[in-house]
Amino acid sequence: MDTTTAVTSYRLQSRSVSEFERARRLQRIKALLKKEDAVLVAHYYTDADLQALAEETGGYVSDSLDMARFGHAHKARTLVVAGVRFMGETAKILNPEKRVLMPTLEATCSLDEGCPADAFTAFCDAHPDRTVVVYANTSAAVKARADWVVTSSIALRLARYLKDRGEKILWAPDRHLGDYVRRESGADMLLWQASCIVHDEFRGQALADLKRQYPDADVLVHPESPAGVIAEADMVGSTTAMIEAARVRPAKRFIVATDSGILYKMRQAAPDKDFIEAPTGGHGATCKSCAHCPWMAMNTLATLESALITGAHEIRVEESTRVRALKPVERMLAFAASEHTEVLGLGNA
Ligand code: 13P
Ligand code: SF4
Repeated sequence: MDTTTAVTSYRLQSRSVSEFERARRLQRIKALLKKEDAVLVAHYYTDADLQALAEETGGYVSDSLDMARFGHAHKARTLVVAGVRFMGETAKILNPEKRVLMPTLEATCSLDEGCPADAFTAFCDAHPDRTVVVYANTSAAVKARADWVVTSSIALRLARYLKDRGEKILWAPDRHLGDYVRRESGADMLLWQASCIVHDEFRGQALADLKRQYPDADVLVHPESPAGVIAEADMVGSTTAMIEAARVRPAKRFIVATDSGILYKMRQAAPDKDFIEAPTGGHGATCKSCAHCPWMAMNTLATLESALITGAHEIRVEESTRVRALKPVERMLAFAASEHTEVLGLGNA
């Protein structure tokens, strides 16, 4: 099944259940979480139902860095990661003794797909003088080849740190985030050329037009977006930083350039404010143009329930790969803990 067909089928299945059945399913999932000694950790881009369930059941909703931190610190025997595959793998890298389940193992990421381990290893081997920094949105095998793993919440800070130490960086896989970090830090960075299919769709000119329509609005942009979109931003930052900006900035209206799943938490953080989705290149709600990650959308109450019943979608990482990947992941956590992670970029209050 291709991705578009798979996502459409997931969406249709989840819409066709009645409210009554939905409530019963929620009850069953809650009971299963208890029975399995499991905790639900969800990303901001997942369905609002899943985010609400994670909150209600003592789980957690956050960005990829904090999901890793929460899962690592939690005592549950099973971590259920609602997000995309690299998030499940990061949980497993950190917690080999725990069972890590996902609603579906089909949920990948275009950045992960766009950086195959063999080609990436050859690229690193061709540039032995560079420190290898990879974004968390990569496979365990790619992390195993890296010196550092980062998420968008610490990428800029790490680049500045490495630059101050006189190190040259080989960055993968997101070219827009890499380009943004290179511009902001002035570090010497060689970039792998993959991109996020969701953020790649935002358009700078259309965003400039929308700003003219809403001159009172602040523009919040995730740095996986193209440079022309970032140029229109009042604030650039990770998902958590964007939510925090919506809460603390004085503006009453925001234009948001990231996956629309984030609006659940943004509205919770700033209930008295208005949010407008930034324009994308597509016409109509295709997976590529709807500002919603097709793989995040594969996480539904139905797939979650089924994973808990069958235990089938368990993340496994080959042990020697896990041990090698653990080092740069632990470095990331130690670095993130060494100071409060800063809100990145332009015009931060
Ligand atoms: P965060 O690290 O900000 O959660 O982003 C992950 C992601 O996949 C963004 O598209
Ligand atoms: Fe990957 Fe983009 Fe989806 Fe994030 S939104 S998981 S970067 S494809």
